[in-house]
Amino acid sequence: IDFRFEIIIEYLPFFMKGMLWTIMMSLIGVLMGTILGFFIALGKMLPSKLLRLPFIWYINFFRGTPLLVQLFLFHFAVLPAILDSVNPIVSVVVTLSLNSAAYVAEIFRAGIQSIDRGQAEAAHSLGMNKIQVMRYVILPQAFRRMIPPLGNEFIVLLKDSSLGAIIAAPELLYWGRAATGQYYRVWEPYLTVALIYLILTLTLTYLLNYVERRFATT
Ligand code: ARG
Repeated sequence: IDFRFEIIIEYLPFFMKGMLWTIMMSLIGVLMGTILGFFIALGKMLPSKLLRLPFIWYINFFRGTPLLVQLFLFHFAVLPAILDSVNPIVSVVVTLSLNSAAYVAEIFRAGIQSIDRGQAEAAHSLGMNKIQVMRYVILPQAFRRMIPPLGNEFIVLLKDSSLGAIIAAPELLYWGRAATGQYYRVWEPYLTVALIYLILTLTLTYLLNYVERRFATT
């Protein structure tokens, strides 16, 4: 088959620009998701069943419905009801952040619950209160165990942010579709876009392995 490299060359600047948006949106998504997810995890560990309920259903909703449906819901319904004009990039970032928070909340809970009970008991017996036990004993250890799944979350968002192409957020896949629309060619744009995603995820995997080794327990 003929492979028209000149299409790739022409669109390369757009792919690069799109790639930067892809990285930016997923990075903000995972950061906001981590902050929000932390509070949702705390909420889900509240002592009262009634108070836990909203947090449980937050997680149920965002993990139990498709990300694409959530994106449509926020882009076409929720955000237009709040804002005068809706930017698709904002919609993607908001949806990724809220969605990620649900997954991160479970990562936090798993991390915290993976620390042996005896540690908290020992710290209590030394006179620490609940907050001090969390802050100085549980969280520093739990955090290390959360690094791999949090890194994984970043990789997931990097790939799933491609759903933003559907609502015309100018990320990587959006420009692939633009090239296809202009030239009626499918191989060149989509193979290139796939390759760029692959380079991004492999680079991230490599970096994360490095970070994991640096923070390795023992
Ligand atoms: N692929 C899933 C969906 O379409 C979204 C997964 C989001 N996962 C995550 N860790 N944030 O519903």
